[in-house]
Amino acid sequence: MCGIVGYIGKRQAYPVLIGGLHRLEYRGYDSAGVALLSDSDRLNVYKAKGKVSELEAVAEEKDCSGTVGIAHTRWATHGGPSTVNAHPHVSESGNLTLVHNGIIENYAVLRDQLKQRGYHFQSETDTEVLVQLIEYVQTSLGLSLEDAVQAALKRVIGAYAIVVLDRRFPDLLVAARKSSPMVVGIGEAEYFIASDASPIAEYTKQMVYLKDEEVVVCERGRELRVYNLSGENVPVEVKNVELDLTMLDKGGFPHFMLKEIFDQPSVLQDCMRGRVLPEHGRVILSAVTEHRERLCQARRIVIVSCGTSWHAGLIGKQLLEHFCKIPVEVEYASEFRYREPVILPDDVVMAISQSGETADTLAAISLAREAGAFVFGVVNAVGSSIARNTDTGTYIHVGPEIGVASTKAFTGQVCVLTMLALALGEARGTVDAGEYKAVLNELQQIPGKIERILAQNDRIETLSKIFTYAHNFLYLGRGWNYPVALEGALKLKEISYIHAEGYPAAEMKHGPIALIDQEMPVVFIATHHQLHEKIISNMQEVRSRNGRIIAIITEGDEVVKQMVSEYIEVPDTLACLAPLLSVIPLQLLAYHIAVQKGLNVDQPRNLAKSVTVE
Ligand code: G6P
Repeated sequence: MCGIVGYIGKRQAYPVLIGGLHRLEYRGYDSAGVALLSDSDRLNVYKAKGKVSELEAVAEEKDCSGTVGIAHTRWATHGGPSTVNAHPHVSESGNLTLVHNGIIENYAVLRDQLKQRGYHFQSETDTEVLVQLIEYVQTSLGLSLEDAVQAALKRVIGAYAIVVLDRRFPDLLVAARKSSPMVVGIGEAEYFIASDASPIAEYTKQMVYLKDEEVVVCERGRELRVYNLSGENVPVEVKNVELDLTMLDKGGFPHFMLKEIFDQPSVLQDCMRGRVLPEHGRVILSAVTEHRERLCQARRIVIVSCGTSWHAGLIGKQLLEHFCKIPVEVEYASEFRYREPVILPDDVVMAISQSGETADTLAAISLAREAGAFVFGVVNAVGSSIARNTDTGTYIHVGPEIGVASTKAFTGQVCVLTMLALALGEARGTVDAGEYKAVLNELQQIPGKIERILAQNDRIETLSKIFTYAHNFLYLGRGWNYPVALEGALKLKEISYIHAEGYPAAEMKHGPIALIDQEMPVVFIATHHQLHEKIISNMQEVRSRNGRIIAIITEGDEVVKQMVSEYIEVPDTLACLAPLLSVIPLQLLAYHIAVQKGLNVDQPRNLAKSVTVE
């Protein structure tokens, strides 16, 4: 969590830093701060509790000059959201200032040692220990800033991406990372540092992704230098990174979330481009072509992921088991990594992650690699840590997702998992040729069918007004639509703060039915596929207890229409593709309920887009 930005060069740093923080606000937004070395060589540090806009209000009347600076937007771990806990933190002497993303696990021990040596601490954060430790090492051993950073980080246990500014050296920024992402952009006589490429992309395409335990020295008038913690030079690997900047603004929509919901038809086309080949009647995924033998021989696939990506994994399980006849397990990465899982060398461990930075998922794949499994990534963020730590994988290519509640990444993940199941099923000879062709044809119709659901946006908005009163929601689905029930409930909780539970419809009788009364909206995902009659029986059970039903149904399902007062129709499709359509009205429903309640849809309380802490 947390977003960091640094700039050194010929421009005024403040606009670069503030613009960068806005782009990184998805990583946390409970406080923000900036440190600038002014044109008159003063170190100015401004901080504010709350969002980046609060920081701008604080800095408005102040001296924001300077061509070097660092900035931070925070998601609190150690120490609550407050101005004093906001970064940048400043060292005892006032010479050093630092921003940090990550967690320093041995901070308490280090802090006690530093206190004994006369250091004072202002905040409750683990980060303040870092800036004091670097200063202590620098002064006690007489080291340069870069050597002090290296030496100090050797004593640190935990995760970090840091940028350090020393007011005595206005031509220098030193940064380092371990287990938290960091990118350096190289411009004309200027350097940009950020947690991801989005704050940098408008200035340069030349980027360097730092690896674990690397220290980077950005010095005016000199080439970029990268060292490991032993002080050895590391070759600088510059990548040409293209980011579509139009994806980074709201494109006329009131919120990123709504834009991203409406992006789905076009980004799913991008996801399938060059992979679904109608002229050949085939799906080609380079990962499957290149690692055909290893993937075909998989005895088991273990999917590890978190949040919405875990829900996509549950659909992936059904797809892979159905088309490839390989047993699949779906694990919360956070549980998997801590319970001594049995991982065998002929397992394929599949990490699904939008951000590619989720700490638990990253740790789960490290574990899998150590055990000799083959690791496959289904990731959105190009060049992210998970993408770089897998043996192979398939990007979902849906563009940056900024709204904290994941929408287009979910459908992108399901789309990739469908293509993967088809390609691998074909390679293994386990998929029926007729079914393969039918799914391939229908998959190409999905973007157009999503358009038809989006055309009902106004109707769904009107419907949402009825339900803002509710304190609890139940989402029920079966088979392919069970994970959609979980995802619909998660969307609602995340942004509207209404408690919601997703359940397999038939399990309702084993508990949740006791909750049903006239106050309780029950969302049935009841497209007309397998077990349709059974889900209709479940609806009857809710009706006879006066529950309020909202049904997601296949267009023209007159039976359900007669039974319920509220329904949303989705176009017909194959059962295995139903989630790609039935989730769309649930995204819109959650969105409109949250808007009706006047909530901050893109930045819901307590959440962050990228969870880089355990
Ligand atoms: C956070 C986000 C969710 C996301 C989950 C997993 O909780 O708010 O939207 O599903 O992390 O993130 P990942 O980037 O690994 O998919």
